[in-house]
Amino acid sequence: MNHPDLHETQFEVVVASRTRGADGIDLFELAPVAGLSLPGWNAGSHIDVVLPDGDVRQYSLSGPPQPGRSESWRIGVLREPDGRGGSEWLHSGVQAGDRLTVAGPRNHFEFQPVHGTSYVLVAGGIGITPISSMAAAAERAGVSYEVHYAGRSRSTMALLDELPDAETHVYAADEGRRLDLDALFTGMKPFTTTFCCGPTRLIEAIEKAAAGRQLVVERFAPREVGEPVLQEAFEVELALTGVTVTVPPDRSVLDVAEEAGALVLSSCREGTCGTCETVVLEGEVDHRDSILTPDEQAANEVMYVCVSRAACPRLVLEL
Ligand code: FES
Repeated sequence: MNHPDLHETQFEVVVASRTRGADGIDLFELAPVAGLSLPGWNAGSHIDVVLPDGDVRQYSLSGPPQPGRSESWRIGVLREPDGRGGSEWLHSGVQAGDRLTVAGPRNHFEFQPVHGTSYVLVAGGIGITPISSMAAAAERAGVSYEVHYAGRSRSTMALLDELPDAETHVYAADEGRRLDLDALFTGMKPFTTTFCCGPTRLIEAIEKAAAGRQLVVERFAPREVGEPVLQEAFEVELALTGVTVTVPPDRSVLDVAEEAGALVLSSCREGTCGTCETVVLEGEVDHRDSILTPDEQAANEVMYVCVSRAACPRLVLEL
């Protein structure tokens, strides 16, 4: 997990090329402006792209990771006419030669291959972007891995030609091949970790099929959460700002902390991007984000203040 640092600073990049990745998916290669290079990145990283209205969208970096400095980054963008507008703007308004404002990279879907562990990498649709970087990292590290990639048809599935044939299983619905997640887990070797990125219904299905086995997921959209643990207001001591605030049931910790003058970086405000990660100094958190694993939630070391709340009357946060 990262804490706010220079990777949160916004800066400009040039769109070096824009190419067709598949039906409805374009690949944007982003290069540094003259004389600079880009920060390095590991498999599973994403960047923020700032839209003209200041809103921010997250896109995973694809292809072989570059842990040192990077010559260029590449994102794959699925055009979603009924989405929130980010992909539509990129597809209709951004061409090679244009500049984009970005921030990052950050990584909340980290893949660090370890010898002796096998990896199953599962992608649904545009979820292939981070999974492609994991496959490249696994290949480079020489660990055992396989890729399971599901989509409507091969024409809608980007990066197919970059995945190693021997390790890749393709499930194109129009060819009658469907990914059987129960069979996948039943036949799994011991010491296997599964990574999955894709639409909500795939994530929900794989969490069910995994039945407690090692699984790391990345969601495009926030997970469903139940009622907050506390229905009433709670106190938050902002240790760095030096004030204690009261968070009412209808407001987020982020909103109240910002109003009190705390410097809190934020982006998605829905618990998916990780930008507002905050260190918990005291108190029990009601984790309502879509990022932390159950073990990380239980560790109670950080929280995402845009959505998570208190599970006790008072929290002390490093804000
Ligand atoms: S702002 Fe994105 S997780 Fe909080």
